[in-house]
Amino acid sequence: MFDLVIRNGMLIDGTGAPRRAADVGIDKGRIAEVGEHVGRGREEIDASGRVVAPGFIDSHTHDDVALLVEPQMTPKISQGVTTCVCGNCGVTVAPLPEGDLPEPLSLLATPGRPRFARAADYLQALRDQPAAVNSVPLLGHSSLRATVMDSVERPAHDNEIASMRNLAHDALQAGFHGISTGTFYAAAAHATTAEIIEVCAPLTALGGVFATHMRDEADDVMRSLDETAAIGRALRVMAIVSHHKVAGIRNHGRSRETLAHIAALQATQSLGLDCYPYAASSTTLTASRVAHAERTLITTSVTHPEFAGREVSALARELGLTVEALCDLLQPAGATYFSMSEDDVERILQYPGTMIGSDGIPLQAKPHPRLWGTFPRVLGHYCRGRGLFSLETAVHKMTGLTAARFGLSDRGVITPGMAADITVFDADKVSDAATFDAPAQPAVGIEWVVVNGQVAWRQGESGALAGRLLPRNDIHAQRSANA
Ligand code: ZN
Ligand code: CU
Repeated sequence: MFDLVIRNGMLIDGTGAPRRAADVGIDKGRIAEVGEHVGRGREEIDASGRVVAPGFIDSHTHDDVALLVEPQMTPKISQGVTTCVCGNCGVTVAPLPEGDLPEPLSLLATPGRPRFARAADYLQALRDQPAAVNSVPLLGHSSLRATVMDSVERPAHDNEIASMRNLAHDALQAGFHGISTGTFYAAAAHATTAEIIEVCAPLTALGGVFATHMRDEADDVMRSLDETAAIGRALRVMAIVSHHKVAGIRNHGRSRETLAHIAALQATQSLGLDCYPYAASSTTLTASRVAHAERTLITTSVTHPEFAGREVSALARELGLTVEALCDLLQPAGATYFSMSEDDVERILQYPGTMIGSDGIPLQAKPHPRLWGTFPRVLGHYCRGRGLFSLETAVHKMTGLTAARFGLSDRGVITPGMAADITVFDADKVSDAATFDAPAQPAVGIEWVVVNGQVAWRQGESGALAGRLLPRNDIHAQRSANA
């Protein structure tokens, strides 16, 4: 007798292989048997007419705090996501000092939310209070800078670099899966390439990924790609280009250039990239970003929450303020910027090496809809609607490919022995319901989600909080998965 059997479904196993009819038998949180007729289960799910896929891995999130304060993780579990990589873009809530923080840390660690002086304490908090999804935390370089430096508006001195390197070493040893940077932001814009290589040096011996919100995703995107690749080569680890995009009207179409360059780099080193399926970005609110976008919507404001959802230029006019003055008034604040081309988004999504990552920003009044809609939007709009790729490829981009890039050796594929993270969905109906006006909408067509063998989402209802802080694989497993 299995603990749980998912019967009569169409299996898409996460490797990219063609679908086949199969039952899945689950025991003690692991996949025990996959075959045409497996034995009975204490509990059975009838998946007739449905696709049975590995649980989706969100390769890029800012769920660090949400995992602790909203452990049901409804925006993610309702999309079929069973694992979240958090701590991206250089930003984590551990380690962080008390007091005021530079942008963009100010947006994640707002007053009243948990933050941790010691990185290991954050991991313990994740262990103490399980969420609905598994977590794969990265350590943020900007958080290290805010901890160690009296001012982040300059390159770090040698003694500060040594302190950050020690903190990074301890955090990786405690269980962080890698290090992220966000040189795009004020908190790390002054960090040199050499500083980053020095601080991230423990990755070489201990293993883990290097993920980056690059210095420039607009005019200088090619130079940023070269910097990212150089850091990955120096550290001899997987380097991941976060939320790859080409921003700004005059750069529309340049994904042809960036993807050709990424393909050339991938021929000689471990390099990954993720992408969210929208032509609008979302981050902290600044007047200069407003100036480069066609349209900007406020997602959150700590001082003026009533303005969430409003368009910045229209609101500034209404209040008789300049855009600069309005942005100052709303800080700390977040915004959604319309500044990409849909053709570039499609080209990047379609690129074979691209993982799906939401970059969703939780705990905001009017978040970018990618928080709730990313995975069903790829399956519904981009796969079924636009035909960018087969359903098998779409699933691979959110499961097996991502697990391989992050060295998660027992996730991302449905085969005996793997952890039982599974999403059952209706391939004809699956779609995103979240919009820019009404972003907090569960997806359509995601029917059952199983995390570590326990049902975490059942036709619109939350279930078990069975997620785990995933352990780091030993470096040998990681190296071979990354090869
Ligand atoms: Zn970012
Ligand atoms: Cu991000």
